[in-house]
Amino acid sequence: MPTIRLVNVTKKFGKGSLAVDRLNMEIKDGEFVSLLGPSGCGKTTTLRMIAGLETPTEGEIYFDDECVFSDEKGINLSPDKRNVGFLFQNYALWPHMTVYKNISFGLENMKWPKDKIDARVKEICKIMRIEEYISRYPAELSGGQQQRVAIARTLAPNPRVLLMDEPLSNLDAKLRNDMRAELKRLHLTTGSTFVYVTHDQSEAMTLSTKVALIKLGLLQQYCPPLELYGEPNNIFCADFMGNPSMNFVNCHGVKEGDHVVLHAGHFTVKFMPNEKLDLEPEHDYVLGVRPEFVHVGDQGIEATVISSLPSGMETTLSLAVKDITLSAVAFGSVDFKMDSTVHFNFEGNRYVLFDKETQNKLGLGSLEIVE
Ligand SMILES: Nc1ncnc2c1ncn2[C@@H]1O[C@H](COP(=O)(O)OP(=O)(O)O)[C@@H](O)[C@H]1O
Ligand SMILES: [Mg+2]
Repeated sequence: MPTIRLVNVTKKFGKGSLAVDRLNMEIKDGEFVSLLGPSGCGKTTTLRMIAGLETPTEGEIYFDDECVFSDEKGINLSPDKRNVGFLFQNYALWPHMTVYKNISFGLENMKWPKDKIDARVKEICKIMRIEEYISRYPAELSGGQQQRVAIARTLAPNPRVLLMDEPLSNLDAKLRNDMRAELKRLHLTTGSTFVYVTHDQSEAMTLSTKVALIKLGLLQQYCPPLELYGEPNNIFCADFMGNPSMNFVNCHGVKEGDHVVLHAGHFTVKFMPNEKLDLEPEHDYVLGVRPEFVHVGDQGIEATVISSLPSGMETTLSLAVKDITLSAVAFGSVDFKMDSTVHFNFEGNRYVLFDKETQNKLGLGSLEIVE
């Protein structure tokens, strides 16, 4: 499987703004990369440019050392020569063909010998766990089974890379979960490189080896999902990942030696950076606090419970310190009375300090309540 490299890839439609803006990224052999971001940020366009279905306005694309697109060198390999599999959001199986035929048809067109086709169809049906449906027609299959046939059809010719554009978005929630696990398993068994488009942060989190988070055509961060969650480059990344989302508290900071005292209005905390930070004597910050690090207990800052949503495994709380609202997660089957008074503490050292003006991450650290 090749490494895919995008160098300064830009796409402009007509006179409009840039759909993809100087994108640089490397997708290594065997990775499962998700292109993630809000609707219209350029995910589909990027995937289509990799496949050769869309022509970049500028830049270069490489599969290993082979240049498949370059505006300067005038290279533009057609999609069939790139040997990629593409699974669209609105995949359609041929209704008048059996599962077997749906999968074998493409191989016949590629002039594969008959015995090789038969072996491959059976092999891929086994991998996708659809062997028992091989002689059924699409109308006789459930949505999830149809989805598996569509994936089998795309994988049958052994594409170097599997490109998928929101392939689970038409499935109901339960099935989507099952298919996520299926896709992850498939990635391991095939050893192929997967590039996956989604606007769903939890899908990208759970599936990928690396996530490329995009905003308005610009790549914001490209790293393993837990790193994106724990060490977001900026407020956009921090806010996009996680549900319930991160709390953002506006603070005025005063430097005191190696730490900084953050005045949040109704409470004051000391931020102790994990690594030495070069901070100004006084500055405006945004403190990022993941809900799971707000620990509700007997001590700490006093707050009022605005809402308590128990799910059995954990309870999502909304806490108010006057006009500052924080969401918190309490683990286990616990419930809290509305309007009751609780106390909370900040635990651990995964609090993120952002610059208020640039919105960029300055560093991570731990917190100590001052008052
Ligand atoms: N064929 C097209 N013609 C004009 N504008 C387009 C075309 N395709 C996409 N765009 C624009 O490019 C931007 C990125 O689109 P797209 O890649 O489809 O986003 P996403 O898949 O992230 O939702 C959007 O602003 C969209 O309107
Ligand atoms: Mg799209």
